[in-house]
Amino acid sequence: MIAIACDHAAVELKREIEAMLTEMGEEYRDFGTDTTDSCDYPIFAARAAKAVADGSCEKGIVICGTGIGISIAANKVHGIRCALCNDPLSAQLTRQHNNANMLAMGARIIGVELAKCIVKTFLSTPFEGGRHQRRVDLITKLEQEQVIE
Ligand code: RB5
Repeated sequence: MIAIACDHAAVELKREIEAMLTEMGEEYRDFGTDTTDSCDYPIFAARAAKAVADGSCEKGIVICGTGIGISIAANKVHGIRCALCNDPLSAQLTRQHNNANMLAMGARIIGVELAKCIVKTFLSTPFEGGRHQRRVDLITKLEQEQVIE
């Protein structure tokens, strides 16, 4: 199950991504927003991020105008590693190296086809583990306010 959310700047792109997920046979849960009326992206970031953090969704996708605000907000939820990726290589590497569990994109930065390619890459690339696991574990410790050096 994929959690997906956006603000008013990204409703159209979110619908395109949802159509692609359906074509791919991927189930998703939409946490809003549903209209282009101005809204506050942290609210929607939090709803999707909490569903990923509590395990009810395996991964999440959040989209705002730049992808910046909604990624910052999602990353405030413990357990979330949300990567802003406006290119497929970043999406591949953040899965391989950071085990990112949420993807953020900017609807005012990239086009629909590029966004679809980024989502496909993000969802299909496994975490490499190994030395990267140690680093991800350090991020978790930092989140838990443990001293890491
Ligand atoms: C909304 O106008 C815009 O600020 C938001 O979509 C996002 O780009 C924030 O980071």
